[in-house]
This record gives sequence, structure tokens and C-alpha cells, in this order.
Amino acid sequence: MRSTFRWMACAAVAPFVTLMPAYGQSAEAIARTCVLCHGPDAKGVGHVLALAGQAKENLVRQLEDFKADRRQGTIMNRIAKSYTEEQIRQIADHLASRK
Ligand code: HEC
Repeated sequence: MRSTFRWMACAAVAPFVTLMPAYGQSAEAIARTCVLCHGPDAKGVGHVLALAGQAKENLVRQLEDFKADRRQGTIMNRIAKSYTEEQIRQIADHLASRK
């Protein structure tokens, strides 16, 4: 009985614990600024490409390339430089999980 209770408590708390780091650093809030240019739901507008649903690794690589000036953009270099690598991974994680 006691172990059942403990298991249930873990199951109830686990989702909050796994979500908390993302909200603490607010990857979701950052990702909301991306949609200003990348369109509602980050699905792309005109020539600004879709972000939502892209593979996480692909998003991380693009953003790190912009950050290190390996890739030249009009605006993304400045944007990527304002985030840490940890934040970039969290933003990419968040965007990749959206469809
Ligand atoms: C001010 C408008 C603007 C904002 C805000 C913006 N982007 Fe961009 N993004 C662009 C433009 C324009 C490009 C095309 C490259 C360039 O000209 O810099 C681009 C390109 C990209 C690319 C490369 C896409 C590909 O497949 O080649 C990625 C990844 C990206 N942006 C991610 C992000 C993320 C993540 C955010 C939020 C942290 C963001 N962008 C915010 C305008 C914006």
C-alpha cells in the first residue's frame, strides 16, 4: 500500500519536475519572440523559413552557425549571439516538439 502511494506521488510530480527547467529558463517565452518573424506557430512566412517541426539537431546547428558567423544572415547572427548554447538547445528542443 505504501509503495503504491509512493509510486503514485512520483507519477504525479514527474511531469512538473521535467518541465520546470524549461520554464525556469523560459525557452517557451524565448520561442515566442521567434514567431514574430517566423510566423504564427513558427511555420514560416514568405522567405523566412519554418522552425516548428524541424529536427532539433538541425535547429541547433543553424543557430550555432549564426552565432559563430559560420553562416551569414541578415538578422539571425545578432539574435543567435544573444543566447547561450544552453538556451539554444532549449529553444530548439521546444520548437522541434511543435508540429
Ligand atoms: C527579426 C526577425 C527574426 C526573428 C525575431 C527571428 N528570426 Fe530566425 N530568421 C530570420 C531571417 C530573416 C532568417 C533568414 C536568415 C537571415 O537573413 O538572417 C532566419 C533564419 C533562421 C534559421 C535558419 C532556418 C533554415 O532552415 O535555414 C533558424 C534556425 C532561425 N532563424 C531560428 C530562429 C529562432 C530560434 C528565433 C528565436 C530565438 C528566431 N529565428 C528569431 C528572421 C528572424
